Amino acid sequence: MRLSSSVLAAATVPLASAQLHYWAQKAGLEFFGAATDTPGFRERAPYPAQYSKYDEIFADPKEFGQTTPTNGQKWMFVEPEPGVFNFTEGDYVANLAKKTGKLLRCHALVWHSQLAPWVEQTKWTPDELKAVIKRHIFGVAEHYKGQCAHWDVVNEALDEDGSYRKSVFYNVLGEEYIKLSFQWAAEADPGTKLYYNDYGIERPASVKTAGAIRIVKLLKDAGIRIDGVGMQGHLHADNHPTMEDHVKTLTAYAELVPEVAFTELDVRIKVPVNESKLAWQKESYQFVAESCIRVPQCVGITLWDFYDPFSWIPHVFPDNGAALPWNEDWSKKPAYDGLIEIFKKFAKEKEDKEGKGKGKKERRLIA
Ligand SMILES: *[C@@H]1O[C@H](CO)[C@@H](O)[C@H](O)[C@H]1NC(C)=O
Ligand SMILES: *[C@@H]1O[C@H](CO)[C@@H](O)[C@H](O)[C@H]1NC(C)=O
Repeated sequence: MRLSSSVLAAATVPLASAQLHYWAQKAGLEFFGAATDTPGFRERAPYPAQYSKYDEIFADPKEFGQTTPTNGQKWMFVEPEPGVFNFTEGDYVANLAKKTGKLLRCHALVWHSQLAPWVEQTKWTPDELKAVIKRHIFGVAEHYKGQCAHWDVVNEALDEDGSYRKSVFYNVLGEEYIKLSFQWAAEADPGTKLYYNDYGIERPASVKTAGAIRIVKLLKDAGIRIDGVGMQGHLHADNHPTMEDHVKTLTAYAELVPEVAFTELDVRIKVPVNESKLAWQKESYQFVAESCIRVPQCVGITLWDFYDPFSWIPHVFPDNGAALPWNEDWSKKPAYDGLIEIFKKFAKEKEDKEGKGKGKKERRLIA
């Protein structure tokens, strides 16, 4: 995404370093993170010259306290042939998380997309497909046992109308596959937090939000553990959820599960980029940050990568781009500044409140 130099000048944040994770934690969140992918593959392949700068920003523990592999743990990469596991790409990000001291969200065990072709090409009986899912979940979750703070156990099980997506899993097993997946993930890595993750579940009135709530209740009614709902947060600058929308939705999930998170945040702009669109985008990022702070069960926010050239958006939505806080030339968008503004505001409120609390206690001690 190339911005004209005048727009770019306006978009550039003068602050040399402000650091998202540092301020997000001060504001009360557990983490602010960025997903990342394997060097040399997919969107990243054409940009080897940018890797050293990228790695430097990614590694900064004050900038990002958490990461997620955008691709490396998906079924097509980790079990490309039946029962043949390949953890090369998943391990790259897991090891990077360890090396740079970041919390690891793992993604995703059972998903209809980027699935190994053999899963869809075979005509399974229900028992056969159950065995396939079980082998996959145990194979992958046991490999990463102890490393994943969260696992996205089931990803995008809902269709656009809020009904179950007619995936191979659903077509053969019905909603049973969701229950079994959570059960097996809990057995394979009892220490990880088990998430349902989806897109389009950020607005309170969305039929998909109702669907996500239905899935959580399905699991809870069956006595199966689910620890969190992940709202992917692939948002649009020109039509984004309001603060009130986010707070309502987060609260609805938080009444049912111990935690919620924004797991794949990016805010795409319809090109060409101009200053108004950058301002809408900034507002959208700020609403996400503020709502997450306001709802105590919201543990953190993950960007779906942080550098525009590595974003999936222009590849999948051709008239869209500029979705991430860092521009191609490494300048930052107003959205970055906007996030820091919100985090600093709430950090200060928190400090003032705690300061007052401390003051009261000291007064009591004196009395
Ligand atoms: C495992 O995956 C890596 C990365 O995609 C690939 O380079 C490698 O050839 C794969 N290994 C096998 C044995 O297929
Ligand atoms: C940017 O583009 C949008 C959509 O075309 C338009 O509504 C807006 O007025 C433009 N803003 C500026 C500053 O040009």
